[in-house]
Formats: sequence, C-alpha cells, structure tokens
Amino acid sequence: MSNDHSHLRGQSALSAQGLVKRFKTGRTFIEVLKGVDFDARHGDVTMVMGPSGSGKSTLVAALSGLLKPDEGKVTALEANDLWSLSAGKIDRFRLDHCGFIFQGFNLFPALTAKQQVMTVLKYQNVGPGEASRRAQAALESVGLGPRVNQRPSELSGGEKQRVAIARALAKNPNLIFADEPTSALDGKSGEIVIKLLRAAATERGAAVICVTHDPRLEAYADRVIHIEDGRILDDVRRTPDANPGPLSH
Ligand SMILES: Nc1ncnc2c1ncn2[C@@H]1O[C@H](COP(=O)(O)OP(=O)(O)O)[C@@H](O)[C@H]1O
Ligand SMILES: [Mg+2]
Repeated sequence: MSNDHSHLRGQSALSAQGLVKRFKTGRTFIEVLKGVDFDARHGDVTMVMGPSGSGKSTLVAALSGLLKPDEGKVTALEANDLWSLSAGKIDRFRLDHCGFIFQGFNLFPALTAKQQVMTVLKYQNVGPGEASRRAQAALESVGLGPRVNQRPSELSGGEKQRVAIARALAKNPNLIFADEPTSALDGKSGEIVIKLLRAAATERGAAVICVTHDPRLEAYADRVIHIEDGRILDDVRRTPDANPGPLSH
C-alpha cells in the first residue's frame, strides 16, 4: 500500500459547498452552519480558527462524514457527494481515508499504546504481524518507542495525544481532522503535536484540517480560515513560519 500522498500535493482533497446545519433546541432551531463553502488541499495545513461556539466542530463533523448537514454537498477524494453514500460506505470512507485527533484523545483505557494503534489497522484487514510492525513504527515516529506498552493512565496528556496521532498516521490517511488538538496540553507538548501534524502534510502530502481557537498555531499553517457564528469571515493563504516561536503560555 502507498504510504505517501505527496505526489498529490496542491491538488484538492476535500471541498464543500453551501453547508447548512441546524440543531433543534426546545421549540426552535438554531442555525450553526449558515452556508459554508470550504476546500482543502493535499500537503496543506488548513487551519480553521474561531471562537468557542462558532461552529468549528460541527463543520469538521460535516466534512468528515460524522454528522449529516441539512443542506450542501461534500466532495472528498473520489467521493463526489459523500453524503449521498450509504451509511456503510461513509463508515468505510472514514476508516480508509480519515485520521481523527480530538482534544480528549479518545483512547481505550484498557489498551496499551501499541494496541490502540493496532486496533485501527485490524479494521483495514492488516494482518497481526504487519499491524504490529506498523504500530511500532508509527509510535517510534512520534517519539514513543519506549512507551509502546503503557496504558493511557500511565501516560501524560502530551504522550496520549501522540498515541492518538500515531493511531491516525498508521493508516496513512489522505485526510487528517484535528479538533483542538493542543488545547488540553502544555506549551511544549502542544508544540510537538502541531509539528507532527505539520510533518504529516509536508512529508506525506496529507490534507490536514486543524480546528483551533489558539492563535499560536497559525505559524504552522499554509492557510488560515476564520469562522464566526457559522460563517466564513476570511480565508488567507500564507507561508508557514520557518522557525515558529515557542508555544509557551
Ligand atoms: N448536538 C447539538 N445539539 C444542539 N446544539 C448543538 C449541538 N452541537 C453543537 N450545538 C451548538 O452549535 C453551536 C456550535 O457548536 P460547535 O460546532 O461545537 O462550535 P465550536 O466547535 O466552534 O466551539 C454551539 O452553539 C453549540 O451549542
Ligand atoms: Mg469545538
């Protein structure tokens, strides 16, 4: 299997038009996405920034096949209209092509770091020997070689987030969705995490879509999109800083 999408660099990986999402609260509906257009390219870190409640997580969920929008269309890789696919095909799309990194790590308490990574490979029908090798390599690539047999309770927040990144990267996804990946971390751990995401885009050609309200992460982005109250305010292409300053508080 190809572990590299870098030949696709600069090409569109994901696009969406006219996304609308409403939630029912009591007797009224609130509109959380108000007609959002979006696109992201291979090799880019696309940063979506906005205050709490602006619709960032809802947007990521709609783009990644987790939450069906009420209106609009998502085109992702070869899926011309993601939300027109059956639930099973959408699940398959996520398993095959998407890596997820969340603020809360989402690790299984009972599994070791290596087992967390092997579990996702199993769903891709990777045999146990190969899964073990790839899990080990993924954990080593995030600097957790000596920690592969630890469980989440024995790892720091930064280490847990690195396990989540190893788990996301082990299947070499085209699309990486990171929702507030650094907000539970200290500055040093946050810096390690955003640098790993930057490297996934630069070295593997993944399209990294990173949602955050932390302005310090902008330094790592190829593109910064601001969202407020369910609308895109601006969308600026930039060159990532060569030597970003420390992420300390
Ligand atoms: N399942 C839901 N039911 C009702 N309201 C929701 C639901 N999910 C999110 N919301 C509301 O939608 C708005 C945007 O939420 P969210 O996308 O999580 O924002 P962000 O990630 O930018 O903080 C918030 O006002 C939130 O309370
Ligand atoms: Mg959120």
